[in-house]
Amino acid sequence: MKRVRKAVFPVAGLGTRFLPATKSIPKEMLTVVDRPIIQYVVDEAREAGIEHMIFVTGRSKEVIEDYFDIQMELATSLAEKGKTDRLKILNDLQPAPGTTSFTRQQAPLGLGHAVWCARELVGDEPFALLLPDMIMQAEKGCLASMMDLYSETGGNVLSVEECDPSETDKYGIVGKGEDVGAGFKITGMVEKPDPKDAPSNFYLSGRYILQPEIFKILERTERGAGNEIQLTDGMQTLFQEQSFAAHPFKGRTFDCGSPEGFIEANIAFALWRSDIREKVIDDIHRLLHEVQPRD
Ligand code: UTP
Repeated sequence: MKRVRKAVFPVAGLGTRFLPATKSIPKEMLTVVDRPIIQYVVDEAREAGIEHMIFVTGRSKEVIEDYFDIQMELATSLAEKGKTDRLKILNDLQPAPGTTSFTRQQAPLGLGHAVWCARELVGDEPFALLLPDMIMQAEKGCLASMMDLYSETGGNVLSVEECDPSETDKYGIVGKGEDVGAGFKITGMVEKPDPKDAPSNFYLSGRYILQPEIFKILERTERGAGNEIQLTDGMQTLFQEQSFAAHPFKGRTFDCGSPEGFIEANIAFALWRSDIREKVIDDIHRLLHEVQPRD
């Protein structure tokens, strides 16, 4: 079984749910507490043992590439001012030279197309795919737990979570087969099924370990829902020839692509920080009394 060494981060979406902010700032660079959303996802990949990070970017996303580069002037200035704790934060987060790659999607034709754009950089080996607008909070990262399952099952491994059974039409839903390790075998996949037709309430939650054969399939996948090349359509084809297992993630997931999910993530990650937790709790209590709806 080949080891998973590379991770793909598709960051070329338009982020329309977050306009006007995303008119000039990629949503992946919006800040949760004190670091951009993309940093949380990269940290999760690092924790899982990923050695090379591949970003599929688009127009006006240069700031993401700059973020992962060394800011020499800033580092020198912090050192001169003796702000060694600040400098340490930057150094600890800095990817080693040669461990990040960037490619452009050129046109936002869908998630499946964004993944396909990484084919040359991934090559002929399994890879992790992390949707950077979903950030997760757990003692052990979602991808690290998926790696454990992958070492038992091989093939393709997808993270899933349970949704309210009446809301299956919002998600990609998988069918549940027999248990395997800490997860289960997937018996099928369907995009946004009506609750009465849904095979389960387990939805795809934004983390994948995929085999490289997906690239050839995505190359010939026609545009589907939303006139976009859909990853789920490509996975359905791959499913006919390869095994898929599901890892039910037990932590908290925040959809930072929407303002509500983003605010929830900020609160949750602030509450996780012992240095600011008490102040945040006090502020929330006070604001609940003081602030009423404006409209
Ligand atoms: P989303 O559909 O959540 O992102 O795609 P979006 O299109 O940016 O958001 P809205 O719906 O307009 O607000 C899931 C992930 O896939 C990436 C996005 O950047 C996001 O991380 N993506 C999506 C691409 O990289 N390229 C695409 O063509 C579409």
